[in-house]
Formats: sequence, structure tokens, C-alpha cells
Amino acid sequence: MCTEKSYGGNNGVREHSGKIAKDKGKSDKISTKLKLQQSTEAITSSSKKINDNEKELNDYKKAGEIANKIRDFARNLIKPGMPLLEIAKKIEKEIENLGGIPAFPVNLSINEIAAHYHPTLEDQALAQGLLKVDIGIQINGFIADTAFSMDLTPEKKYKELIKASEEALENALNLLNKNPSLTEIGKTIKETIEKKGFSPIINLSGHELKQYDVHAGITIPNYANNSNIKLEEGAYAIEPFATTGEGKVIDGQSSNIFKITTSRNPRNPTARKILEYVSEKYKTLPFSLREMQEKFGPMARLGLKELEQIGAVHNFPQLIEKSRAPVSQAEHTFIKTKDGKIIVTTR
Ligand code: CO
Repeated sequence: MCTEKSYGGNNGVREHSGKIAKDKGKSDKISTKLKLQQSTEAITSSSKKINDNEKELNDYKKAGEIANKIRDFARNLIKPGMPLLEIAKKIEKEIENLGGIPAFPVNLSINEIAAHYHPTLEDQALAQGLLKVDIGIQINGFIADTAFSMDLTPEKKYKELIKASEEALENALNLLNKNPSLTEIGKTIKETIEKKGFSPIINLSGHELKQYDVHAGITIPNYANNSNIKLEEGAYAIEPFATTGEGKVIDGQSSNIFKITTSRNPRNPTARKILEYVSEKYKTLPFSLREMQEKFGPMARLGLKELEQIGAVHNFPQLIEKSRAPVSQAEHTFIKTKDGKIIVTTR
């Protein structure tokens, strides 16, 4: 999950593309966001090179194994017409059963919504059309991020569009052993998708992962962005998006997904309880209005509104394909070790 399918990186994507220059402002916002409570800062800065710490590598692998199981679980669970709310709850329950914690609320995004849809408690939406399921799992803050698309139409009309993002992901992963630059990865993704007659979404991208940080540092483009940067040791997600439309996303309505950004003292007692609960369970990772509604009742919505107003949390918008065309997505997480070995953790 990610525009903030987040652009935290400095790999030149923003610098080299006027088209997404508006994200420059966002990147400033993000750096402010990173000034968090001391406890969180300490945790983040202690996140060092993966190989220095075998435990860290094991946590990444464990998160990946759970993410892989949840992907299969979701594939078997989801049927056309099933309420998204039921799907979200069952996936979260299964994550808990397997000993994981969500790294972000499961994204269940239909058709032209590329990402960042998560049902609220009142949500009536049903699974249909082209559904993207984007799953994040964390173990001690070490994250596995994986996504797949399902064609829920009776006539399977999105089959090829789904294949396009899946093949782009496979080709990009296969390229990694050659130590490609970011632009080479992006070029492979773009060409794979275009060969099938579709367009990649250029202002969504893969990303680096760090402890308690889904969108850290490097971004991995879905097009040739002229960056000669090569991936160093670390954890990364590649996530091609393919569409029949223009190939850009714009911000839509609130996703009801939030994350804590700045330390603040709200007056509203429910807001205070939310902050306390989220700081403990998710730290700086995203969380849902829905879980807060379940935990703290009808006042949760108001509590979160106050938190948003005083600048304590960021409210992620839904990401909508600009020409309202359907979007498919595929995503895996991998680790690059010190000696350049690639380990895909989510399959
Ligand atoms: Co991602």
C-alpha cells in the first residue's frame, strides 16, 4: 500500500518528472511527519542493515510467510457479492490467528480505485468487478507487503489486465539478479504492461521498507525514470499497476485509513484513547477508522476528526485512476542481502 503510496524517496522520481512534481509538497509534509514521538524515533533509527541482525531477517521472513498465507486465505475467501466489511474482518482475524499484526489495514479497492479503500463499520460495498487486495504484515515492525488482483466479473473481462501487472512483477523480480538500476526495473515493468496493450500507473511506485515504515527511502518506479541508482542491501516492495486508462492516479475521498504523524494532546477522551491504543499497537504504521469504531464505539469517528484537526494524524485519500478506468495490481516484497542475494519473502 502506499501516494503516499508514499513518496518518501530521493531517487529522482520527483525531480525528473514534471508530471508528478506536485508530490514535492507532499515530500515536505512527510519529513515533518517523521518527527515523531521519541519512542518511535528510537525504534526507527535503530533499524540498521538487515544482515547485521539475523533476528531482523527472521522477522522479515516470518512476516512474509504470514503474508503469503493470508494471500491464499483471501483468494479462497473472497466471492462476488461478499461484503468488503466481512472480508476485512475475516482477514484481520486470520492475521491474528497466525501471530501477525497488520502493517496497514487491508486495502480492498475496486475497479478505478487503485488503492486505499478500507470499509468502515457502516460500509455496504460488496466485492465485485476488479478487486485489488493489498496486504501488509509486520513482525516487530518488520514488514511484508503483498498484493494481488481478482476478476470477480462473470465473464472474466479483466483477465488480461490482471496478467499484465502479474507479468510485470515477475519480470521485474527476475531482473533483480542482474543488479539493475531503478530505471531498468521501471522500464521492464512499463514495457511488459504496454506489450499487453495497457498502461502502467506512473505516479504509484514500489518502495523501500524499514522498521515501522512502509514507505521508506527509495521508490521503485513503474516506468523508466532515468535514475541510475541501484538497490542496496535492504527490504523493498515492487508493485506494478496496470490500467486501460490514462495511467495516473489522483486523490479521492478519505480512505478512513490514518496514521499518527505528530505528538499532540487532544481534549476529546476518545481521541486520547485512540492515540494510546495506536501508539502501542501500530506506532507510526497506518490504522483504520473501522478498528477504532469496533474498539471505542460511535465516538471514534469524532475522536479521529479531532486528531485530524489538531494535526496528530494523517488521513490517507483513496487513490483513483484519473480517467476512471479499471486498475490491476500485483506486489511482492523482497530482501537484498549484503552479498546481493535476493530473497522474495512473500511467496
Ligand atoms: Co506496497
